[in-house]
This record gives sequence, C-alpha cells and structure tokens, in this order.
Amino acid sequence: MSASVSSSPEPKDGHHTHQDTLLKGSGGQNASPPARSRSRKLLIGGLVVAGIIVVIGLSVGLGVGLSVRNDHHHSSLSSSGSSSSTGPDGSVPSNLPMTNTVDSSAAFLSMDIADAAPSTRTYDFVVEERVGAPDGVLKHMLVVNGQYPGPTIEANTGDRIVVNVTNKMPNSTAIHWHGLFQRGTNYYDGTAAITQCGIPPGESMVYNFTFDGWVGSTWWHAHAGTQYTDGITGALIVHAKNESVPAYDGDLAIQMADLYHGFSPALLNLYHTPGGLEGTPGNEPVPDGGTINGVGQYGSTNTTFFNLTLAPNKMYRLRLINTGSFVAMDFSVDGHVLTVIEADGTAVEPVEVGSVSVAVAQRYSVLLRTNGTAGAYWMRAALDQDAFTYDNPGVQTEIRGVLRYGVDDDALPDAFLLDNPPSLPDGSPGELDTDDLIPVGGGPAPNATFSVYFTISMQYTGGPNYLSQFLSFINSTSWQPLQGTSSLFAHLGNNTADGSATLADSQLVTTVDEPHVVEFIIDNLDDGDHPFHLHGHKFWIVGSGAGRYQHQALDNKAPMLRDTLVIPAYTWTILRFVADNPGFWAFHCHIQWHMAAGLLFQLNVLPSESAKFDIPQYMLDQCAREGNMM
Ligand code: C2O
Repeated sequence: MSASVSSSPEPKDGHHTHQDTLLKGSGGQNASPPARSRSRKLLIGGLVVAGIIVVIGLSVGLGVGLSVRNDHHHSSLSSSGSSSSTGPDGSVPSNLPMTNTVDSSAAFLSMDIADAAPSTRTYDFVVEERVGAPDGVLKHMLVVNGQYPGPTIEANTGDRIVVNVTNKMPNSTAIHWHGLFQRGTNYYDGTAAITQCGIPPGESMVYNFTFDGWVGSTWWHAHAGTQYTDGITGALIVHAKNESVPAYDGDLAIQMADLYHGFSPALLNLYHTPGGLEGTPGNEPVPDGGTINGVGQYGSTNTTFFNLTLAPNKMYRLRLINTGSFVAMDFSVDGHVLTVIEADGTAVEPVEVGSVSVAVAQRYSVLLRTNGTAGAYWMRAALDQDAFTYDNPGVQTEIRGVLRYGVDDDALPDAFLLDNPPSLPDGSPGELDTDDLIPVGGGPAPNATFSVYFTISMQYTGGPNYLSQFLSFINSTSWQPLQGTSSLFAHLGNNTADGSATLADSQLVTTVDEPHVVEFIIDNLDDGDHPFHLHGHKFWIVGSGAGRYQHQALDNKAPMLRDTLVIPAYTWTILRFVADNPGFWAFHCHIQWHMAAGLLFQLNVLPSESAKFDIPQYMLDQCAREGNMM
C-alpha cells in the first residue's frame, strides 16, 4: 500500500501488493510499475481546453513524489476554488480537513490472497465530515478514514470480517455490505431503520460477519439517508480459489460514480419540494460529473486522471463497480474489447463487448488483454444522460482515466482522442446486452410457491403548502424510515404467528413465515428506469418485457442470477429467489433520490427465527440516542 492510503486498515496477514506479483510474473518485460514511494497519479498542471487542447506545465506534474502531491493538490485548489467552490446549497464548510486522494496503485488487488488460510480480518472505519475536490471543485464530503473512495476490503469467502465503525459525523449512520447474504446476522446488514438504528454521533459499532459462500465483486456504503452520495463508499472484494471464471494475471477494482458538487441533504430538499429543481418537483438532481476511483475532471479545474500502468501481453480482470447515486456509467477502454465474466458475484459465460453500462450499485468483472500496440489509452466512464431531466451547464458527461502498457508510467494518450474516441474495428461487439448474461452452470429457477405483486410509481403529492413532496410509491405506500427503532428491533421477541403485527403501514412489509420460493411480479408504471436491489439474496430474473405483466411467457432456461437489476420505464419484470434467510430485507431502488422518496419494500423472512436473534445489547441501546439521519 502506498503512503497515501496508510490510514486505511490492512488485513493482518501481510499480503503484498499486486505489483510485486505481476512483476514476478512478467519476467522482466518493460512493465515499469512504479516504485512504492512514487506517485502514479499524473498532475498535469494546466491542461487547458480551448478548441484544441494545450498541455502546459507537464514538468510540474510528472514524477512528483507522494509527499508533495497533496500540496500540489491544495495549491491547484486554492487557485480555482474561489470561483467554483460552491454547490447548489451555496456553501462548503471552511473548517473541515481535506479528503485524501487515493493513489491509483491502490486499485491493484491481491493475486495470492485466495491461497491464505481462513482468517479474521479486522478493519477500523472512522466516518467523518471533510471537504474534498475529487474533480477539482471543492465540495462538502462524508468519508471513511479521510479518503475517497474509502478503504478496499479484500477477503476470502471463508473469512470473518470485523469492522469497527466510529461515527464522527453530526448525524447517525450505518454501513451496508451490498449483496452479502448475512445468513443469521441480519442485524449486521447495516440498513438504518430496518436492521439497526443508526450509529449515533460519537459512538461506535462493530460489524462482525462471514461471507456464507458469497464470492466476487461488491462494495460497501452508508445506508442512512443519502450519506453515501457524499462519499461513504468503498470496494469489497471476496476472493475464492474455485471461482468459476477464466484465469487472469492481474486484478483491479474500478469504482465509478456520478458526482455532485452540492451536499446531498440540500439536493434532496430541492428534489422533494414544490419548487423543485428547474421548477419541476421530481426532477432528480443532475450530477455535475463523476469519478473513476475518486478522480474526475470538471471543465478545466482538474486535469488529473486515474491511471494504470499494466504489463503487456497479460490478462487483467477489471472489477467495475458503480458506487454512484443516480446514473449508469458506460465503461470502455479505447481500442480494446472487454470480456464480461462476472456480474454481481455471479460468474457468467464469457461475453465479448465494446463497453459495459453499469447501473448504480451493479458490478461487472471484465477481462482486458494488454495485447494491443504498446502505448497509453483513454479509459472512459460515460454518464447515462438519458436520465437527465434538465440541462446542467458545465456537466462533465464523460470521466476519463489512463490505461497504458509497454510504455513509461508517465505516458499519456493522444489528447486529440479525448473528445474524438476511436471506434473499434468493424464487426467488433458493442455495449453489453444483459440478455446475453448466462450464469456459469445456470439452469431453471425453481417454481414459485409465494407471490408478491407490486407496482412502481412516482408522484407529486401536491397540496397547498411547502411540505408537499414528490414521493415514490410501491403499490400505494411510500416508505418512511422508522425513528428510534428498526423493523428488526421492533420485532424482537415477537412470537405472533405472522411476526409483523407491530409495524406501521408505511413500512410495507410482506412476511414469509416459512421457507418459500418467492416471486416478485413488478410493473414499473413510471417513466424512469429503476435499478432495484434485494438485500440478503440473489434473485433469478425469469421474465421481463414491455408494458404491464399480463401472463406473458417467461424465459426460465438459465435465467441470470444477481442482486441488482434495472427495471426499465413502463416494463414488467419477474424475479424469483429462495427466501430462507431470516430477517428483514430491503428491496429498493438504489437511486438515492428515489429511495429517500420512499421507493423501498421490506420482506420479513422467517420471523420466528429472527425473533430469536441474539443482538448485542449496545446496538439496541443506541436506538435511544440516534441522531437525525441526513
Ligand atoms: Cu447497496 Cu440497500 O443497498
């Protein structure tokens, strides 16, 4: 690990960095990964876009040592900050420390961790307010261990993870481990108001769980209000020796996210209220740009790129993770075909693509072979502008990074290509079609024994006063988080037959009181696409199509199995999963604005089991002290 991420905890087993492994493997080829003491990030002082791109001050930026890099960052900020440091809420706190940028080399994952004996891996997470400038524009952030993105967790599927989270923010928080099954540990799912109360300001909570056979690429994030929008995210990679994917020589985590210069509570307020954004309630805040592993570009204020130096003629696994809040990100690397091999922790039959659209909270692993002409190439993460409901002047719609091999580790791609992407040769594959995803060893989903129908809609609830809100509905209910308790806690010790009697209607809970194959039949009546996520399970996608569900034929030969899917506007979808994992599990749209507006449904699985959970008393005690969850 490089010095810039030294504040992040490391597993105690002392695995060495991946660059070492690759160097060994590359047999003295001209790979030139940098020495640990050097920055791999390019600070190109003054890349000015003015019809043509003029690069000046290259000598200032290249080869700067780590110790001075942050100083450079600060000085470039102070020169641009005065004109562009305010978001829609008009203020960036002036008394907070600066968020640390994470060195590009931190993207390299371990290649030998899967050989390690099962162990317990302990992490300390300190969550706090900071300011930061991921794309060069100073903004208010919430981050873990002072860095954005937060620390990457890497483990094996047999391991136990212990994460001690200390909340130094003024509002309560909870950290969710997206996609994990949490069998028997629903109370560590980290979903505020559902599986726990928020961790109160100034207090700590220890998450302690195993992976239950979950393998692949995922992420962790705050699950309280819209906090993760402001920066509380990180990669979570679960390795295994027997994962059903092709072999590769190097492994990388690529976290892509949309980015807002404003602070999320202020944006949420605009979204909810009658004036709305651009005069229309229900217009989701349009991002200002985005990041790749915490680094973005905005206008001419920041010309730093996330950058990777790889070895030539090797196979790399890139784990693409959309840690954003609203829009899908379309990932590509100029001149390279990618091979999709995993989606949301499910190994898939390899599919060649030119690009992959990764919806919010989804993950894909792609293989990239470094067998093109030695050189530097642009890597691109394009924001899906179809989701934009108004014009945001200045928005950076494509985030760029650098991927190079067979050249020096400061080589840059041709600047002309930035806005003139080369196309792949004729006959090359295009963007991933999710219909082409087939799980390795997949087969039909079991028949459903329990069925739930719901509709998705969004509406301005009107009314004469300012408190009227734009809300999201599942059936006719808009979820509002419980205060001072959680669904799970309210139910503890409950020995009624259906286990759900104590919860208000606003909780929209369906109880499954014996193991069932549950089927969700969903009609999206809304004009927007919704990336839905089910906690604690993967589901099979057994059918989907235009319009409403009217008993159309399903496609249940080898349905895709995953935990987050996009339900497009005006379409139906049918999902199935085995509900035998006790606890309260959220099923919700992962767009932060929509979830905050109530687009969430809960499943109460095997209540007679979860009523007996032995939950640490201090977690229950924290309910009395939780703060307002912004
Ligand atoms: Cu990524 Cu409810 O979670």
